[in-house]
Amino acid sequence: MLKNLLRRRLFSCPTKYYFVLLVLSLITLSVLKIHQKPEFLGVSHLDLTEENPSNNVNCTKILQGDVSEIQKAKLEMLTVGFKRRPRWTPQDYINMTRDCGSFIKTRKYITEPLSKEEVAFPIAYSIVVHHKIEMLDRLLRAIYMPQNFYCIHVDKKSEEAFLAAVMGIASCFSNVFVASRLETVVYASWSRVQADLNCMKELYAMHAGWKYLINLCGMDFPIKTNLEMVRKLQSFRGENNLETEKMPAHKEERWRKHYVIMNGRIINTGTVKTPPPLSTPLFSGSAYFVVSREYVRFVLEDEHIQKFMEWAQDTYSPDEYLWATIQRIPEVPGSLSSSNKYDLSDMNAVARFVKWQYFEGDVSRGAPYPPCDGVHVRAVCIFGAGDLNWMLRKHHFFANKFDMDVDLFAIQCLDEHLRHKALERLEH
Ligand SMILES: *[C@@H]1O[C@H](CO)[C@@H](O)[C@H](O)[C@H]1NC(C)=O
Ligand SMILES: *[C@@H]1O[C@H](CO)[C@@H](O)[C@H](O)[C@H]1NC(C)=O
Repeated sequence: MLKNLLRRRLFSCPTKYYFVLLVLSLITLSVLKIHQKPEFLGVSHLDLTEENPSNNVNCTKILQGDVSEIQKAKLEMLTVGFKRRPRWTPQDYINMTRDCGSFIKTRKYITEPLSKEEVAFPIAYSIVVHHKIEMLDRLLRAIYMPQNFYCIHVDKKSEEAFLAAVMGIASCFSNVFVASRLETVVYASWSRVQADLNCMKELYAMHAGWKYLINLCGMDFPIKTNLEMVRKLQSFRGENNLETEKMPAHKEERWRKHYVIMNGRIINTGTVKTPPPLSTPLFSGSAYFVVSREYVRFVLEDEHIQKFMEWAQDTYSPDEYLWATIQRIPEVPGSLSSSNKYDLSDMNAVARFVKWQYFEGDVSRGAPYPPCDGVHVRAVCIFGAGDLNWMLRKHHFFANKFDMDVDLFAIQCLDEHLRHKALERLEH
């Protein structure tokens, strides 16, 4: 009865009522639209402070370098309660990413660009990982912006569930993908370079708009916001930025001899190799770079670079001289002169801040950085919360290494800090 009545009324509704309805809905829409903006500008739901695993540890004080607060964080990590805190497994991520809307919201990913300046300057990332899904989620979230592009290379040796979890996360974003060709990454071998190359190719082909490519591993974390990186990259005017220095004599064995992979390890056969097919010498650097799109195009397409890369495939740790050397070849876009006067050390390049154990010391007496507050692995510092204050005054984009299992507060406090910095501009 009622239904019929309603239907009749609707159908018998004169045109002018439709017009009134239309106007009303337009007004409603515009009111909603006006309300939408301040809602995003009120960004408190994107704050990460509440994710702090302990109410006892104050990240503001940690970042100020407060010694007793840093000590408190160390003690907190020894408590049973902390050690038994809930952790997320790959299975949890597979589960959580079934509902992407809820995943993005509960994990507090930023889904709107924060400025026009950043939209006009997209960055591409190549991320090489093999385990620790929670770290990857933290890293991706810290650098995620909808205008950027992210390729994740998962080691073929990784657990099936880990790969599935990464794929789950990637499936929630149109600008994040898992590399379609995956390598078995053997420490210090060519496979490390190939993993980045696979991502480079796909990123290059997928979008013509990105300006720079940055490569990362699962133990990196940013120490700059996206906007800070964009501004610095603009100032490079197409130049690449990475460590590239004179090759020390003790590293020559790494490329003068032929190496093979046996039982998942790289071995020196002692056989002498032909010299590199280049007219410039080899330079020494790190696996990490900040390079322009033009550099990437050249690396992927130039015949001489292809020959050099083929030659490098049976050497030890080619990642630590390949990018550094390409950066000194005159024809390469954005490269540096091969004169040693243009050498760029790891501290002067922006790509990565790393603390090597044998260089740590008293800064007032000439050491490049103060001692590690965390632990050392293969002479590299895995940062503790006490490393943040000094590190954040450096110009580097990323620091290496962080590990949630070594010092969760180092990551938590850095994460909170960068998020605050990115959002505080929007709040007024
Ligand atoms: C953390 O420390 C800062 C600086 O001392 C202080 O202003 C702030 O109120 C503290 N926050 C909490 C939640 O205690
Ligand atoms: C996955 O999610 C469902 C509910 O959505 C829950 O019942 C189940 O326990 C979860 N499984 C795991 C392994 O977290």
